[in-house]
Amino acid sequence: MSINPHMTVLGAIFLLLAISSQSAVALKVSFIDPCTVADFPALCRGTIKGQTNVNAATDVAIRELMKRTRHAKEIAKKEMKRDGGVATCLSNFNSAFDNLDKALTNIKENDGFSLNINLSAALTDYDTCSDAMKETRETNNVFYKSAGVLYQMADNCLALSTLVKQ
Ligand SMILES: *[C@@H]1O[C@H](CO)[C@@H](O)[C@H](O)[C@H]1NC(C)=O
Repeated sequence: MSINPHMTVLGAIFLLLAISSQSAVALKVSFIDPCTVADFPALCRGTIKGQTNVNAATDVAIRELMKRTRHAKEIAKKEMKRDGGVATCLSNFNSAFDNLDKALTNIKENDGFSLNINLSAALTDYDTCSDAMKETRETNNVFYKSAGVLYQMADNCLALSTLVKQ
């Protein structure tokens, strides 16, 4: 019953290799798919369409949200009653749009700190819209649903932005 010392060393090396390759895989997964950090990953993946660079992915996600916000604003203008929840949404969408536009500048300037603040402000704008619609009991319509998707997209943008270098 002799223990081969080389065997033990070899075993340790194998163990180390197994551990390090595992963490390499984990690292690689978050590297190829930035949406692993998102609260709504499926929505995120549909938005960034395979973009692996985190700055580009965040940029694309913000631009897509701006496009959908512009569209939602058109619908809001048509459906709006003067002091209903939709009117609140329209002014909040305007504010969100401005904040998202600033966020695009923040990415270009590699300003992760301001990016986080401007995206958080946009997220609050979408949240305020949904709250207003709940308050006026206007939740049983398509507009309320799309406002909810905009909120989820803003939440994803904020998650992606945490990967942007400070
Ligand atoms: C939002 O971004 C703009 C630049 O695009 C910056 O001037 C501003 O300070 C940012 N807001 C905050 C609160 O950081």
